[in-house]
Amino acid sequence: MLPASDLSHALRGLRFAQAIHVHQQIGSTMDEAKALTEAGAVEGTLVLAEEQTAGRGRGGRAWLTPPGSALALSVVLRPNLRAEHAAWLTMLAGVAVCEAIEQTTIVRAALKWPNDVLIGGKKTAGVLIESALRGDELEYAVLGVGVNVTEAPPPEAVDYPATCVQAEAPQPVDRLALLRSVLARLEARYAELNSDTMFTDWRARLTTLGQWIEFREGAETVVALAEDATMDGALVLQLESGTRRRLFAGDVRGIRSRTLTTQ
Ligand code: BTN
Repeated sequence: MLPASDLSHALRGLRFAQAIHVHQQIGSTMDEAKALTEAGAVEGTLVLAEEQTAGRGRGGRAWLTPPGSALALSVVLRPNLRAEHAAWLTMLAGVAVCEAIEQTTIVRAALKWPNDVLIGGKKTAGVLIESALRGDELEYAVLGVGVNVTEAPPPEAVDYPATCVQAEAPQPVDRLALLRSVLARLEARYAELNSDTMFTDWRARLTTLGQWIEFREGAETVVALAEDATMDGALVLQLESGTRRRLFAGDVRGIRSRTLTTQ
């Protein structure tokens, strides 16, 4: 990555690069961004790292950021948002990262519910939102984005198919151009947080819809058809029994081999 002075030049004019904190190596950009937020950092403060030694993903899983191979960033948000709508931040970030990949390369990106960014069915990027509440409102949120740009995690380190943007793109990927595009698309989508467009665009990118999926619930593995998604970010499922239910959080795995049994 460029030195901080060149980075601020490359990211000039972006609301989501109001103040830029660049680290060659850090535990997690999420922790640094949270500490800055709690010390009063303005919305749009950006924390970037070349390498994370304790990067994290959803569900407390580790997220690998080997030096110089990825985008690892966290942005401070102070949205005027009720806590029940926090999932909108995840949706907007997933859509924005897909759009940035498509703008910077010519590959098509999609989403696996709720927020895994896929190229060719393999995970390429992830989004993590961590927030603090004040009453029913979000006091702040830290939006984290990790993109595998030139290296994918080794298969033994993850339990899903993974890739990196460079492996899927026909041209060399410019990491700085991708960074600028991610930030630009995030702020554009953030500006229309309350709109139907954001939900419609998120839903349209969800490859999970129409798939048979399975997920763990306690000791059980539940199998269901992912029929639809709702404005609050939930998946609408039809269970094998025919019963419908919603899933608000968790990890789902697509399984294509089942057929619907009706009783
Ligand atoms: C996921 O798909 O599980 C979310 C991955 C989010 C990773 C990013 S990398 C930058 C930021 N810092 C972290 O420790 N995590 C997020």
